[in-house]
Amino acid sequence: MKKRFLLAALLLAVLQPMKADEGMWLPALISQRIGDMQAKGLRISAEEIYSVNQASLKDAVVLFGSGCTGELVSDEGLLFTNHHCGYSFIQRHSSVEHDYLKDGFWALNRSEELPNPGLTVRFLERMEDVTAAVLKGYKPAKMDEEQRQALIKKNSDKLKADAVKGGNGLKASVEALYYGNQYFLFVFREYRDVRLVGAPPSSIGKFGGETDNWMWPRHTGDFSIFRIYAGADNMPADYSEANVPYRPKKSLKISRAGVKEGDFTFVYGCPGSTQEYVHSALVDYVANVSDPEKIALRTTRLELMKKHMTQSQKVRIQYSSKYAGVANAWKKWQGEEKGLRKNNIVKAKQAYEARFEEWARGSRYEGITDRLTQLYAARNPLYRAYEYYRESVLTIERLQKAVNPRFNTKDYYQPIDEEIFVAMMSAFDKSLDDVYKPPYFLEKRAQYGSMEAWKDAVFADDNEAKALSDALNDHFSTAIVPPVNQLNQSINLVYRDYMQGQMEFERERTFYPDANLTLRVAYGHVEGYRPADAIYYRPVSTLRGIIEKDNPDIFDYNIPQTLRDIYAQGGHENQPVCFLATNHTTGGNSGSPVLNADGNLIGINFDRVWEGTMSDLAFDPEICRNISLDVRYILFIIKEIGHADYLLDEMNFVD
Ligand code: ARG
Ligand code: GLU
Repeated sequence: MKKRFLLAALLLAVLQPMKADEGMWLPALISQRIGDMQAKGLRISAEEIYSVNQASLKDAVVLFGSGCTGELVSDEGLLFTNHHCGYSFIQRHSSVEHDYLKDGFWALNRSEELPNPGLTVRFLERMEDVTAAVLKGYKPAKMDEEQRQALIKKNSDKLKADAVKGGNGLKASVEALYYGNQYFLFVFREYRDVRLVGAPPSSIGKFGGETDNWMWPRHTGDFSIFRIYAGADNMPADYSEANVPYRPKKSLKISRAGVKEGDFTFVYGCPGSTQEYVHSALVDYVANVSDPEKIALRTTRLELMKKHMTQSQKVRIQYSSKYAGVANAWKKWQGEEKGLRKNNIVKAKQAYEARFEEWARGSRYEGITDRLTQLYAARNPLYRAYEYYRESVLTIERLQKAVNPRFNTKDYYQPIDEEIFVAMMSAFDKSLDDVYKPPYFLEKRAQYGSMEAWKDAVFADDNEAKALSDALNDHFSTAIVPPVNQLNQSINLVYRDYMQGQMEFERERTFYPDANLTLRVAYGHVEGYRPADAIYYRPVSTLRGIIEKDNPDIFDYNIPQTLRDIYAQGGHENQPVCFLATNHTTGGNSGSPVLNADGNLIGINFDRVWEGTMSDLAFDPEICRNISLDVRYILFIIKEIGHADYLLDEMNFVD
């Protein structure tokens, strides 16, 4: 009975037309959205987007590495993804003599394509609802949660084992959707010989650096090119010279017709993680505690790094990748915090919860939002400590180096780390109650009397560094992590019911499962936005903007001389570079194909605008925009900068 009710709620939910462009839809269920997509401009069928019987667009999309998306653009295994997704591989092939990061890389023929041990791509073979099979044998009245989980694991293991029986690189996973109200089986084929074919110089692929990251107007040529290789049977194989280019079931056709405001677009890729259905207490914690505190700690670290990086070219190179890593989430959180506050999401959620409770009175859902309030009240102080450890003391490199024999000392600069030590230890000490600190920390704090003195000892003496490192790590993993995990489990259990309750409460609302790195389709249209009063951002950027930003004195804006020369010849002022659209995306969607109404490739997704990053918790169609690289800029760079026109020969163009 309960299940039928949920099913009806699910069905009703998906049949409702959408007001906004919110949502990350499961491709296997796209037939439920296809009417809305077509009403908004799509000209292809559900079967062309996802099918297990015939080649469909899903066969041209891959999970690239462990957290990006890529797409097939030729019948010989050629693949596009972002420059920042290929970055570490490009870096690994680089040396002083061949600095591919700086100069770019273009294989002149197949034999020059560079293998990347450890890099894999996964094609989705099929996905299916396995809720019934996963819950087979479940007796709610007779089983507690632990027994339920054990049963789910056993049933899932069996499903996965059956799914990969064909071997040949098959992998399977069973994923809980809607906090365990639904289960889906995903079967992939994983290829493990993926070679680097081309990458623009960083002055194009990372143009604008951290300054432009998460921002509009954007002019980053954020792409790189790889090729998938297979055995003679077209099946996955370990790297071998004998391998041949993979022949995909489907590769994308490229449209050079361009985009204009209002055009329908969709993004096919692997969004990593969202929390759209959470309680106000969590949003409150994120907006008012977590984001502000983490931002402040990172601001301190970034300032310290920056100070030394501007003083020495060597240090700038050593810390540029670390700096980028720290700066990326730092900037995202700033947009998220601002967006959540500005839109009063906590208040809106509280009002929603009040309406929910009124509806739930007398039902099994009564009081559920209060339970969550209480659970978050119990969890938040502990979770704050958990986040604080990770963002402060656990970032001190000296403490990592003391216990990790594989620590990378090549990119280590002690003066930065000494200052970070004092700043992070002080912040940790000041901001957390002593109950969250190891006894060792309290003893030593008394003994040294100042962080400066403690720092001198830790940097002079390996044993002192190791002892502090062990004390912090041990306390973190024994006194902080386990209770946090336990409370999170309890919270997720309540969410299972709350999610179901929300679906019954809001029959008219369109529900989609939170992102979890599984393949999704998001759709929307090309559109600018208003970041503040009196400003409207138009949705398309051009080469003219790159020339406007060009500055040989600023590392991130110093474009290759060739690009200046080409521009000076005239005729390229309006060369499109990036565009904005309303597709609902998140981290993991990097590298995702952006397709037009006919399902042809028009761009590659690589970012969102920072003012809209609250979309991971609450999507606002007014301000949430994804940023894509226009495919025509990729073609322009391949030709004019890479002189790699031969790559265009294997691509298929529709116009
Ligand atoms: N903001 C984009 C994303 O979240 C691009 C990141 C590239 N890295 C960087 N630090 N610029 O991944
Ligand atoms: N750059 C992000 C990624 O690597 C995408 C930006 C986002 O939407 O979070 O997936």
